[in-house]
Amino acid sequence: MSSTNVELIGRDDPNDLEAILSVANTDRDEVIHSVKDNAAAIFTWEYEKGARPALNKLYEKAKTSQWNGETDLPWDTEVDQEHVVLANSLAQNGGGVMGGDIDVTGTSLESWGDKEWLRFGVESQNWMLSQFMHGEQGALVCTAKIVETVPWIDAKYYASTQVMDEARHVEVFAKYLDEKLSGYYPVNAHLRMLLDDIVADSRWDMTYLGMQIMVEGLALAAFGFMHQLTTEPLLKQLLRYVMSDEARHVAFGVLSLKEYYAELSDAEMAERQEFAFEAAVRMRDRFLQQEVWEQMGIPPKEAVTLVMQAPQRKLFQQMLFSKIVPNCKKLGLLDANGGWLRTKFTELEVIQFEDWADTGEEYEAFALAEGETTATATA
Ligand SMILES: [Fe+2]
Ligand SMILES: [Fe+2]
Repeated sequence: MSSTNVELIGRDDPNDLEAILSVANTDRDEVIHSVKDNAAAIFTWEYEKGARPALNKLYEKAKTSQWNGETDLPWDTEVDQEHVVLANSLAQNGGGVMGGDIDVTGTSLESWGDKEWLRFGVESQNWMLSQFMHGEQGALVCTAKIVETVPWIDAKYYASTQVMDEARHVEVFAKYLDEKLSGYYPVNAHLRMLLDDIVADSRWDMTYLGMQIMVEGLALAAFGFMHQLTTEPLLKQLLRYVMSDEARHVAFGVLSLKEYYAELSDAEMAERQEFAFEAAVRMRDRFLQQEVWEQMGIPPKEAVTLVMQAPQRKLFQQMLFSKIVPNCKKLGLLDANGGWLRTKFTELEVIQFEDWADTGEEYEAFALAEGETTATATA
């Protein structure tokens, strides 16, 4: 393995805050963002359905798991965003005031009272849901690309159902932001950089690795966290539905790449390991929410340094990798080339998840129960 951290992520120390925060979105008003996708569209003349039984099973499952974002969710629910933010904070801080778990003496945050922390909570939620929405569009575009580039018919079939799923996810997050929340944030620069890299890569498996394994693996963990935390019934239901789809998507990545990666050389695996590391760092960087601090008029570096001291914040950051690490292990990415990625994940302090359940089969546990999609009217 020859690439250095500087080559892979643009800095030597993954925790170099100055360098992380210097990456900012400078096209905040752009409406169209164009990326060259560098890949050939592949036809296959091998039409035998079920040649890959696991993918075929997933495809059949997807057909019967479709839901309708307009009619299956209780959109008439009244959402009091400040109330939701307070409830979340109570659940997380065990009854303490927001921000009460960090020492802000002598900092720009010292003068903050309940009002400022509440506004920060509201902005933070607007930011989080906006980034989810942008990530979902990334998944929509990437999966459409997989339909074109993957050489297996069972995978093309499955990917086509995921395209529909992702359209629905963009749709429901956009609607929730528009109707229930109080503001919108442009795509975070770290997230956009990662999505650009995934789309630009010419190799079909890199789309899967970047999207299904890394971005969606993280999304599944993050949605799960928020689903557990929130008491807002519409968001809870929305996340429940989205997660039932997401678990299939991650399984699609694991099942497809498991076969393909078994055949790759060490040199080819090295490129995948480096890509997984780059993606992991970009995703961790985006969760620093630098745009929210800017919006609140607090220097991001000062604020992020403080927030990172809160023990629950560190746990949250680590938890985001609880699906990614076992899935990388299952694909052989952790241990190839002398365990290069294992070392990197150890440095990022996320290696402890390696023996957690991988997502190859877990999608069954996330599936909506019989009748669950129509039960919302009474929920
Ligand atoms: Fe999605
Ligand atoms: Fe997805």
